[in-house]
This record gives sequence, C-alpha cells and structure tokens, in this order.
Amino acid sequence: MIPFSLTEKSVLETKKQSIALFVEQDNLETKEVKDLASTYFPNLLAYCKQQEFTGQAGKMIAVPVGDEKKVKTLFIIGLGKKDKKINIETLRRALGTLIKTMQRLKIDSCALSLPSANTFKVSKEYLAQQVAIICNMAAYHFDEYITEKSRRVNQKPELEICIKSADKKEIQKGVGQGDIIAQAVNKVRHWIDLPPVALTPTELAGKAQAIAKEHGLAIKVFDEEQVKKMGMGGLAGVSAGSEQDCKFVIMEYKVKAKNAPTIAFVGKGITFDSGGLSLKPPRYMETMKEDMSGAAAVIGAMEVIAQLKPKVNIIGLTPLSENLPSGKATKPGDIITFYNGLTAEVKNTDAEGRLILADALAYAVKHYKPDAMLDIATLTGACAYALGPFFTGLMGQHQDLLDTIKKAGDVSGDPVWQLPFTNDYKAAVKSSVADICNIGNEKIMAGAVTAGFFLQHFVGETPWAHLDIAGTAFNVPDISYYAGGGATGVGVRLMVELAMHWTE
Ligand code: BES
Ligand code: ZN
Ligand code: ZN
Repeated sequence: MIPFSLTEKSVLETKKQSIALFVEQDNLETKEVKDLASTYFPNLLAYCKQQEFTGQAGKMIAVPVGDEKKVKTLFIIGLGKKDKKINIETLRRALGTLIKTMQRLKIDSCALSLPSANTFKVSKEYLAQQVAIICNMAAYHFDEYITEKSRRVNQKPELEICIKSADKKEIQKGVGQGDIIAQAVNKVRHWIDLPPVALTPTELAGKAQAIAKEHGLAIKVFDEEQVKKMGMGGLAGVSAGSEQDCKFVIMEYKVKAKNAPTIAFVGKGITFDSGGLSLKPPRYMETMKEDMSGAAAVIGAMEVIAQLKPKVNIIGLTPLSENLPSGKATKPGDIITFYNGLTAEVKNTDAEGRLILADALAYAVKHYKPDAMLDIATLTGACAYALGPFFTGLMGQHQDLLDTIKKAGDVSGDPVWQLPFTNDYKAAVKSSVADICNIGNEKIMAGAVTAGFFLQHFVGETPWAHLDIAGTAFNVPDISYYAGGGATGVGVRLMVELAMHWTE
C-alpha cells in the first residue's frame, strides 16, 4: 500500500522528489501556482501557455526543475472547467494520471496539494478517502510473474498530503478508510489477475477463509460432495466436467442489534470459463480467468465490511467452480434440478454463470430471508456489447433498491446503468422440456436481460438487483487509474458504499 503522510507544511517546503498541484481550467494564475513559479521556475506560466495547457480535465504538465544536486519535478494537473462543481471522477482520473506518470518517470515520492473539497461539493473526509483509494488503485500492477526486474513497477510511491491543521482529523479518517477499501480492491484484482491454474475454487475458498479468520467473520465452506447432497444441481452440474472440487462459500457479518436488516451479496465465481462442451472460440477464452470477478468482489467487500462495521447484517455467498469439457461434463440437452426444486434445460453449457448463481440465490433466500439481495457476475457478453467498459449493467424490478444501488455506484466510482427489465422479456427463458431454459429465445435477443430473468426465478419475493460486470471487470481502456489492463476490482467499492450507508 502507498505510504501516505500528512503535513501542515506547504508544498514549497517539501523534500519529496516531486510536487503536484491541481488547477481549474482557465484559472491558472492562482497564488499557489505563482508561488511555485517564483520558487522553482519563473517561466512556469509561459511554459504552460507554450504547451497549450490551460487546466483541461485529463491534461497534466510535468516540469523538471532544480540543479545538479537535486532535481524536482513539478506536476500541474488540470481539473477542467468548474460550472457549479467539478465531478469527483475528474479528480480520480487526474490522480490516476499523476501516479502512472510518477511510475513511468521513476519518481518515488510526491507532495500533493489537494484541491478544496468544496470544488466537488463533498466532505473533506470523503475527498481524502477517494484520494487514498484511487492513488492505491492506480499504483497497482500485476507483475509478480515477470522475472526481469527492470520491467517491474514501484507499486508504493510515497505521497505527502499538505493540509491545514484544522482538517487533520477528517483527512486522517478518510485516508484510513480509503486505505482499507483500496487494500481490498487491489487484493481482489490480484486474485482475478492470477492465472487460473493458481486460483482454483479451492484456492479462492482458502482466501475467503483466511479473511474470515483474520477479521472474525463466520464462514461456511461446502465442498462438491456436500453441494451435491444439498441438491445444488446447478453448481454441481457446472463443476461436473472439471477435476477441481467446486466450493460454495458463505461469509457472515452480523451486528448485535436484533432488528437490523440483512443484505445478501452473491458473486459468480467461475475460476475459468472454457464454455464447457459448448466450447468458446480461443479468442473469447483468453481472458476467462476473469470469470470469478463477482465472487472475488463479494469476498473483498466482506473484508472491508468486517473492518468498517456498518450497522447491517451482510451475508456474502459465492459459488465457485471451473467450467470445463470432459467425459463427465454436463451436456447440451441435460436437465438439472436446483436447490429450490426448479429444473432447467441446459441448451448451452457456456451459459453456466446463471446455473451456479441460481443455487446460491435460492440458498440465500431460504436460509437468510434477506431484506435485499444483490448479485454480481461477469454474466453475459451481451451486456458488455450493450454498455461497453464504462458502466456495469443494473437490472431488477424493485426501483427503490435500484435507485439506492445507482447512487452507491456514483458515489463510490463504480458506475452502473439500468437496463429495461419488464415482464415482456420473461418468456425468453421458457423451455418445452423443463421449467426454464438456460439460454434466451433468439427472437427476444437482449441476452443480458434474459439472463437476469433466468436468475429472477430463484429470488422469490426478495427485493433483488442484478449487476452484470462482463464489460467492466477486466481490461477497461482509457481510464487513467486502470491503465495497463487487467482486473478492475469493480463492485467492491459499490458494495462497501451500499453497506455503509444502507440505513440512511
Ligand atoms: N463468462 C461469460 C460471459 C462473459 C463474456 C464475461 C465476456 C466476460 C466477458 C458467460 O459465462 C458466457 O459465456 N455467456 C454467454 C451466454 C450465452 C451462451 C447465452 C455469452 O455471453 O455469450
Ligand atoms: Zn460461459
Ligand atoms: Zn462465465
């Protein structure tokens, strides 16, 4: 994790290797910039002009100053035009650019002068929390398998935040929370980025167990034999082709208050999706280690929740399996029976996520009677096509719950976009030989939505929402703090935000 320190000194007094300031567009001549110029580089404003830097969002200039004894780099980072306020996402991306540039230029430390919380119309604590989260997320790299040292990146650039003494408490609290959240997000990304041979269902269940032990959460881990005995035909059916044992992991965070609400988070945990006998073409299989991103996010969110202690009961349920072809694999045409007794015709073994989630959702409803339930899954290519990499698909019919999730998405930085979810689509998952079919009717298309309707059969009356992260979990382009590709850890921040503010 990035070591953060707070100082009441100004950036002008710092001993760090670099200094970073933020400016609003067309408002470069602030006292701060002028002071920086007179201390280090009198031609700073002329240089900005020459570079056509006016403080545009996403733009940054880096100026090396000093003499042969000590070189310092000045970073001036644009936040764009301020109308009534500036969107906090602009700051996240600006910080992402800063951290990535520091890593590229091999600059190990920076003194930061943060813009005022009022610029974004947020609290100082939240601002500090977001800074800590995003700087840590931007610093993350998955390079442990690269043996050539020079190709590895310093993942711990040191940051010194210059603050007013009156703000110290709030900033400290925010940074502390941000550190906890970021640590979990990056841990989740690391699990996702690990090659599928290293992160099997048993391995991931082991990670959940370690977290439960460290933070005092109750945990149950069912193995394949128990899964079969319990009647979870979806999970057992998907795992049938694999040599790896499947697992069903349940983590419980419970508060003392008897009347506290309970929320269930359910995450898809396919540690590798080959498609099964309905084998994927090679190019589509390349990144399918990412297919446990939902489960990883749930386990990571549970780790944060155990530390930040919201006032609600949270249950995290993750069905974990591989999806592989073999002589024992489930075949197109097979009919499986789920935990709640419903049956499904498996027409395509590549639509496996909904099969394992079906059992987990039914289990959650029966054993925990949650007040709300949210599942998160890399479920359909259709969702990735519909929304691209910048929004997670949100589905459901409980508009209040969906609105709460939307807000948590915006506040946390994991934005979601609601898809239509009217009963018209329900007919798509009918089957002539079983209760339902695991792929949607071609005439209705809308693959993301019809997958959602498959899941709806397992939630009963529980207020439920479904997040499809197929587009947002992996290799997101053009967002500075995700640059370099790989896992994003999407969903951790959203679920934590949802849990922390549930009772408000
Ligand atoms: N894991 C995939 C979905 C996916 C695609 C995730 C791209 C991330 C990126 C899922 O199991 C799948 O294969 N879905 C099929 C469903 C179809 C057979 C109805 C799909 O989307 O093609
Ligand atoms: Zn699949
Ligand atoms: Zn899948």
